[in-house]
Amino acid sequence: MQYTERTSGSSAETVVAMSDEMSVALLPNADAPDAPPLMAPGRPTVAILGSGDFSRSLAVRLVACGVSVVVGSRCVKRIAPGLFPDAVELKDQEGAVARADRLVFLALFPEHYPSLLGLRASLAGKVLVDVSNAVKLGRSRLSNAEQLAEMFPESVVVKGFNVISAWTLQTGAQDGNRQVLLCSDSVEGKNEVAQLARRMGFHPVDLGGLRFAQDLESVPLGLFPLWRGPVLTTFLLFLFFYGYGFIRGILLPYLANGRNAFYRLAFDLVNESLPAVALVTLALVYLPGLFAAWLQLWRGTKYQRFPCWLEGWLLRRKQLGLLSFLCAALHGVYSLCLPLRTAAQYRLINAAYTQVKAGVEEPWDELGVWRSDLYLSFGVLGLSVLSLLAVTSLPAVGNILTWREFTFVQSGLGYVALTLSVTHTLVFGWNFAFSAQAYAFYMPPSYMLAVALPCAVLVCRCFLLLPCISGRLARIRRGWESKRKCPVSQHHHVVANSTCPEV
Ligand SMILES: Cc1cc2nc3c(=O)[nH]c(=O)nc-3n(C[C@H](O)[C@H](O)[C@H](O)COP(=O)(O)OP(=O)(O)OC[C@H]3O[C@@H](n4cnc5c(N)ncnc54)[C@H](O)[C@@H]3O)c2cc1C
Ligand SMILES: NC(=O)c1ccc[n+]([C@@H]2O[C@H](COP(=O)([O-])OP(=O)(O)OC[C@H]3O[C@@H](n4cnc5c(N)ncnc54)[C@H](OP(=O)(O)O)[C@@H]3O)[C@@H](O)[C@H]2O)c1
Ligand code: HEM
Repeated sequence: MQYTERTSGSSAETVVAMSDEMSVALLPNADAPDAPPLMAPGRPTVAILGSGDFSRSLAVRLVACGVSVVVGSRCVKRIAPGLFPDAVELKDQEGAVARADRLVFLALFPEHYPSLLGLRASLAGKVLVDVSNAVKLGRSRLSNAEQLAEMFPESVVVKGFNVISAWTLQTGAQDGNRQVLLCSDSVEGKNEVAQLARRMGFHPVDLGGLRFAQDLESVPLGLFPLWRGPVLTTFLLFLFFYGYGFIRGILLPYLANGRNAFYRLAFDLVNESLPAVALVTLALVYLPGLFAAWLQLWRGTKYQRFPCWLEGWLLRRKQLGLLSFLCAALHGVYSLCLPLRTAAQYRLINAAYTQVKAGVEEPWDELGVWRSDLYLSFGVLGLSVLSLLAVTSLPAVGNILTWREFTFVQSGLGYVALTLSVTHTLVFGWNFAFSAQAYAFYMPPSYMLAVALPCAVLVCRCFLLLPCISGRLARIRRGWESKRKCPVSQHHHVVANSTCPEV
């Protein structure tokens, strides 16, 4: 193999070019075939310090990609035979660093970084890849990576690979998270690590300078950060509807007439609360888009930030939508089990017996049959369309859709699902809404409460579809600004002719 070394300035960066006899990677660079070759093609030698879980998985993956790997351990003798692939060289830490062309992975816990200070001279000019994670959430003075950069000022520190688990490295990029988030103050160092990540079949994502390392180190500790608000909202809505239904349908009738309907707690009431939650949550998915639209119309520009609460809400629509889908799906399953319950069978047989005894025959109720067939059909259709939205929210499916296709499904079909669900609920309660019985104890039935917000959302959306409003909104979203938002100098993104179009 032929090596060419070039030293640039004080950083003594080493660029290694190798002959191409072994340059064929096992995994082709499929993600970015046109990406410029930042790392020298061929068989670079990468060092990994530490011989634990992460080191082993990384070594296996790198060897599979045609990279030479040398592992540096404090005590090579302690490494069990067969732990690393045969192609991996095992050396002491000093020897491993000396063998590395440029990249040195630190597969150690950050509290052990000071033990490497003796290698400072040999690590000078190398790219140190810090794969460590934070131990607890919250801000400390400096991230692990920044501390490492302070310890080794003559090396380049790149934060990365910490969001990839040892398991993902072993099983291959096809079977886990494919994103490798990177940050560093050295663009060149970052590019070299990105190149290696691509070669391994991952998607490198550049998050900027090393000051973002703290955020990156906290990523693996996050516990569903975007889900907390939506889950709490859904849970509180469920408590509200369940409590409301309990007071209205069970507690008050019991107190007023002594009627015992506590058995409804386990099934009926759950199947009354779940769809109400599904409907309100679905409305909450589309409400922030309307707020955003009205704000843009009112401000006459899209170049002003939304208030924080609205931005947070817009970002959590996917989670709200999936929770709505979950509640609706559960309601669908519960509804299909309705006739199976002992209570339902008892009521049916008892009604038949009472009728026979009284010699009464219940006539065919054409309208009633239409009503029940219609509302069930709308419900099934609503749930099917929601399922489409849920499927496209899977990254594997969403990624193969164009932006327009994704918007068509999420926004267009989303409104179709909302309309079908509202129609399902309204048809379910059409005649019931006009009977005095429905307002027992001056409390309207749950579905009436549930349907109010979705109806309001649909009406507001219809207003936005009026040509005079939708035309203006479309122009604003294409970058046009109303006159009072000019002069243009405040908004560099406005068209270059620098004249403000008419309002
Ligand atoms: C089962 C299910 C699954 C879902 N899965 C997803 C999913 O995978 N991904 C997803 O995004 N949504 C998902 N949603 C939520 C919802 O379907 C989409 O967000 C949908 O695009 C909302 O459409 P809209 O017409 O209300 O708003 P949009 O047309 O998306 O937005 C209205 C306007 O608001 C502004 N805006 C929107 N978002 C932002 C933002 N973050 N910052 C600044 N401005 C913004 C833009 O100007 C935009 O034109 C899902 C919903 C359900 C029910
Ligand atoms: N495991 C994962 O899935 C994963 C995922 C992302 C990031 N990470 C990060 O990767 C790093 C290593 O994790 P790991 O799971 O591989 O840990 P590990 O299995 O415990 O390995 C750590 C290695 O560090 C070395 N070491 C131990 N004590 C040391 C000391 N006192 N001084 C110097 N070196 C010492 C040891 O190697 P030698 O005895 O050979 O020197 C040991 O094998 C951590 O920072 C972790 O946050 C791990
Ligand atoms: C497979 C799909 C569905 C089926 C089979 C179905 C079936 C039913 C049934 C049988 C009822 C009457 C329940 C009762 O008598 O107590 C009902 C009510 C209701 N459904 Fe659905 N439904 C479906 C989908 C949906 C969806 C997608 C939504 C909304 C997102 C929804 C919202 C409602 C609401 C709000 C009620 C009124 C609940 C009440 O107050 O009792 N349904 N549905």
